[in-house]
Amino acid sequence: MKNIGSWQWLDLEETQSTNDAVVKLYLECQQACLVTAKRQTAGRGRRGRSWISQEGNLFMSFAFPAPLEDIGRIAVLSGLAVLKTVRYFCPNASLKVKWPNDVLAGGGKISGILFERAVNGFWIMGIGINVRSNPLKSAAGYQTMSLNALGATVDRLEVLRQFVARWDELMYSYQKNGFESLRRQWLDNAYNLGKTIIIRQENNEKQGIFAGLDENGALLLRTEKDVEKILAGDVMLNNN
Ligand code: BTN
Repeated sequence: MKNIGSWQWLDLEETQSTNDAVVKLYLECQQACLVTAKRQTAGRGRRGRSWISQEGNLFMSFAFPAPLEDIGRIAVLSGLAVLKTVRYFCPNASLKVKWPNDVLAGGGKISGILFERAVNGFWIMGIGINVRSNPLKSAAGYQTMSLNALGATVDRLEVLRQFVARWDELMYSYQKNGFESLRRQWLDNAYNLGKTIIIRQENNEKQGIFAGLDENGALLLRTEKDVEKILAGDVMLNNN
């Protein structure tokens, strides 16, 4: 095992999902740790979707303890860390964060994050970044993008190093100065802010204006009645 930033780190040739492999590692070492893999045979995405895992791309999962009430803010912080990483390699690309924590580059999805809660109170944060290639469409039918398609020829482990440095920096800033600066930076780069959106959840859909983020990282949806706090769901643009 190696160290990277503040994390214990294991890089595997192949695994089903780094989100599962990191649970095993955390139970062994009982400290903040990270698993990456060259290949994932059953990568998964949010809401039961699969994550198409093409070799050369970055698949990484972090395990750490955190209180439930912090996780919305950590999700915002993590999306921002991905955005800053992509911006480092592609300074001229048009980049956006899409709630809850996708990153879009040149209009296509370049990264997604899957948070999972493990049984004994620690969290798994799995992140996929398309480095060398991107699937034609994501499992949910979105347009996709990769660093390579944006003109950056880099190796997945260079991207990993940049991401970890940025995540550690933002976490330091959050712990020292609180959430407000992160919230503002996220909103400065937000996709669809101020637009009419549809939130698609398990069994229903809600429509309103994407009015911002609250102090916990929840999406604020302004409807005719009031402003609702949305904790989970997919955001679609209302094109009508
Ligand atoms: C999404 O946008 O739906 C989230 C995608 C998360 C994919 C990453 S790849 C590394 C980690 N292992 C997985 O099986 N999923 C996450």
